[in-house]
Amino acid sequence: MSDRAWSTSAPAKVILLGEHAVVFGKPALSVAIGLRLRCQIRPSNVSTLNGISLTQQNYSYVSACLAKHNAGPTAVVTDSDFPSGSGLGSSAAVTVALLAALSSAEGRLREDVVAKEAFEVECEVQGRASPIDTSTCAHGGGILVKKEGSDGLLWEIVKDTRRWCVHDIKVPSMTLVVGFTGKAAPTGPLVAKVKRYVDRSTFARDIIDEIGDITLDGAAQLAKGDLEGLGRTMTKDHKLLAILGVSSPELDKLVASVLPHSYGAKLTGAGGGGSMVALTDQPQKVMEVIRRKGGQPFVGVTGVPGVRIE
Ligand code: PMV
Repeated sequence: MSDRAWSTSAPAKVILLGEHAVVFGKPALSVAIGLRLRCQIRPSNVSTLNGISLTQQNYSYVSACLAKHNAGPTAVVTDSDFPSGSGLGSSAAVTVALLAALSSAEGRLREDVVAKEAFEVECEVQGRASPIDTSTCAHGGGILVKKEGSDGLLWEIVKDTRRWCVHDIKVPSMTLVVGFTGKAAPTGPLVAKVKRYVDRSTFARDIIDEIGDITLDGAAQLAKGDLEGLGRTMTKDHKLLAILGVSSPELDKLVASVLPHSYGAKLTGAGGGGSMVALTDQPQKVMEVIRRKGGQPFVGVTGVPGVRIE
């Protein structure tokens, strides 16, 4: 790495449909939103994250990114518009932004390469993952992941017997309100919990299949600009995710309380805490309800760029 600093940023993401099922190779739909994580790197005597040595603290995503690039001792500084563990993809955003900074320092930044490397890092750290978070943070806009490639194909990612074709999709202007429960929930254990359930239950496998089917319905509704239909599909998805065991009383409470003012609402990301998202044309009202019920609201605007050099 040359002696200068390199700065990048990557957006938060909101999964509209398909989380958890996507880890089993099913489709998923997500959008980047206008909250960003910024990352700066420069050579140093020891590797640090925000001033804390990587040997003192286990920052697994950062360590895995530095190892992937055989980087020498590096000072990494991040700052973010959104909390970590909130279901908005903070680990994906850190991973994508840091890999992009390391690639820029080597003079060869490519969005598809960053997206693939970031997926590998998430798999290493979490044990199991899908490319939905990392591809959305890398590309921005809207992403549909599915088995077969079609119009808008960006790249293809293969792992074991699973294959994901990552597509760029057009996203109409819409308002998403995210409600953070305030309870950070790490993704790895929730993904492992769903895998255990699916391994021993055909009922759980049917739920995974149904989430995959309704995700494609939602993608068609989004393409037509049918926000009412998409909202209904999101609410249905929340119920299926709750049956899989990844919702929480806090998430259920926030979802139920915003539904009278929304097209639909659901948990977003791994669940177990983290955040829910509402699709609404009454963002102020929904924010007020989320606050009243003890959550922290964020408004997410869509149509934002992916990873970029700052
Ligand atoms: O909670 P997040 O933002 O890490 O989202 C995880 C989404 C999952 O489908 C549960 C896992 C994955 O890798 O796709």
